[in-house]
Amino acid sequence: MTTPAAQIMDAAAYAQAVEDAVRASAAYYEGGTSSLDDDTYDRLVRGIAAWEAGHPDEVLPESPTGKVAGGAVEGDVPHTVVMLSLDNVFSPEQFTAWTASLARRIGHDVAAFSVEPKLDGLAIAARYTRGRLTRLVTRGDGTAGEDVTHAAAIVEGLPAELAEPVTVEVRGEVLMTTAQFEHANEVRTEHGGAPFANPRNAAAGTLRAKDRAYTVPMTFFAYGLLPLPGTDSELAGLLDELAHSELMARAAGLGVNTTAGTAVPGLVATSVDEVLARVQEIAGLRAQLPFGIDGIVIKADAAADQRTAGAGTRAPRWAIAYKLPAVEKITRLLEVEWNVGRTGIIAPRAVLEPVEIDGSTITYATLHNPADITRRDLRLGDHVMVHRAGDVIPRIEAPVAHLRTGAEQPIVFPSVCPRCGSAIDTSQERWRCEQGRNCHLVASLSYAAGRDQLDVEGLGGTRVVQLVDAGLVADLADLFALTRDQLLALDRMGETSTDNLLAAIDTARGKPLSRVLCALGVRGTGRSMSRRIARYFATMDNIRAADATSLQRVEGIGPEKAPSIVAELAELGPLIDRLAAAGVNMTEPGATPPPPVTEEGPDGEGAAADATAGENREAGPLAGMTVVVTGSMTGPLEKLSRNQMNELVERAGGRSSSSVSKKTSLVVAGAGAGSKREKAESLGIRLATPDEFGELVADYLG
Ligand code: IVH
Repeated sequence: MTTPAAQIMDAAAYAQAVEDAVRASAAYYEGGTSSLDDDTYDRLVRGIAAWEAGHPDEVLPESPTGKVAGGAVEGDVPHTVVMLSLDNVFSPEQFTAWTASLARRIGHDVAAFSVEPKLDGLAIAARYTRGRLTRLVTRGDGTAGEDVTHAAAIVEGLPAELAEPVTVEVRGEVLMTTAQFEHANEVRTEHGGAPFANPRNAAAGTLRAKDRAYTVPMTFFAYGLLPLPGTDSELAGLLDELAHSELMARAAGLGVNTTAGTAVPGLVATSVDEVLARVQEIAGLRAQLPFGIDGIVIKADAAADQRTAGAGTRAPRWAIAYKLPAVEKITRLLEVEWNVGRTGIIAPRAVLEPVEIDGSTITYATLHNPADITRRDLRLGDHVMVHRAGDVIPRIEAPVAHLRTGAEQPIVFPSVCPRCGSAIDTSQERWRCEQGRNCHLVASLSYAAGRDQLDVEGLGGTRVVQLVDAGLVADLADLFALTRDQLLALDRMGETSTDNLLAAIDTARGKPLSRVLCALGVRGTGRSMSRRIARYFATMDNIRAADATSLQRVEGIGPEKAPSIVAELAELGPLIDRLAAAGVNMTEPGATPPPPVTEEGPDGEGAAADATAGENREAGPLAGMTVVVTGSMTGPLEKLSRNQMNELVERAGGRSSSSVSKKTSLVVAGAGAGSKREKAESLGIRLATPDEFGELVADYLG
């Protein structure tokens, strides 16, 4: 999808547009923060180009069109081979047209395309002399760049010394991963600096900065390898002949970081359809990547094809960027709302001036917790960079500090619970109402009664409100003490609904421990964690007897989470006792309790025994397997929710997961399975239809 070019009506508007674009481009390449997000800048430049096409005699010399880096920057280190930019396409049709024109130019169809992510950072050339990193140069205007060798030590992925003592130039992108960006902004604001608006700006600013009191790491990914004047002639000849994919393998062999180790490695495709399928696949993985990409780069793989195609002044003719929709826009932070969740957590949420990102209007963004607001140095009225990719909840990346006017106001944190007025427990990063799950009782009971927890049919939100308002239910255990007369006395409760509800509550008594635990809403234990805990300990008594050390034997519970689970279970003790007294099941079917821990500690005999009990993973047809379920199920599995499918996987001895990786053993792909199926295929992971899977786990159904 292409966003429309900016409309330029006359020469004055054209001159203004050129001025705006040049300023924005300079800020972008010099590591400052542009007041235009990428999408707005692209539209502006396309508008400029459209106007210039109709007025070729009035083109201003400073116009950014046709220039590498928009003509914004220069440097004093000449590049031995010009560092070009890339032309863009935005749709399958445009890409297909590009391949046709490339085929015409080289006289035949391209037999092999290299397809790799377009990393959203800055181009850099790293010169190695006899294997040692001697110089780092930015792209600059393409013919000469700036010397940034001082930053070499903080760029991960560019070793100080290669695996072989060769003289070569490695080209690639320097960027900050999301984690590196967050760390950089934290350190920077701690030192009194203004936060960077996004990872790209952060990488640009950090690369050029000298003499900072602090250092923050960045990451390099190679996408080019070429000879330098001092390169041994045999090697130089070889590098000129190798296909792009072979050059990337060489770079990796020399110890330089490439995309090969990421979820979106560069691949070779042999047809346009295959390229387009890979484009979709990478687009689908974008939201999960730990670094930003703004498109996919497609290159003619063979060196001979590249040579024949040649290059224009700005970009090569043998490569193209297939741009993906922008995931970032600048908008304003209008307000912060504080919402109390079902466990009493008080979560801030940003209210934004509505902004369209990739076809959706965004009005809210997540803010995590008060400490996060402080760390990000956010203020009301700030211009903020908002990021939204895929179905992930939009997030504020950072304020755009240089757009501050001084009128911004501090964000006021609540001093009492905004829902019930009780005191707030601020001892942890996530603040919590001291009433805990009783503060938002309706939310906590509705969750407990939900399909994936106790599955009490007929107990929807409205009914819960009614029960709470009538004073009949003040916590989860009260639900099990409801009488027929109490229910009949309620509005719109006839005999049938009453009996049905009582029967559903009775059925809920027999749910497995994992469901009961999940219904309790212990912080940090969602559905799959509750299942792991329940399968490991087998009984509620064992769980309650566990200390923080033994809890950490459950996969996914670390030293931070364990004590808070212990504390919360202690707090829930009286409620759990009442539930047990009301006949609620407190055991996990099929699970064997772990043996007692011996004196030797985790490395002793106790632990050895432990490895063969506890989670009951050794038994069943899926023993030792990690299984991902995607798409809609059919046959005997049709009625199962995703949660029930995951439960089934675990009953059959497997481990359920929601994302496909190299560690996945099996992907159950039903109708409509999308990117997960594609990823499984590209990683060569075993696939099963719902029917095949149903047969495999038949003994564990129901
Ligand atoms: S190839 C001669 N490959 O995108 C070919 N560039 O918009 C030049 N980029 O200047 C570049 N990922 O900074 C290439 N896999 C990739 C890339 C990539 C990101 C950047 C690079 C380039 C810019 C063009």
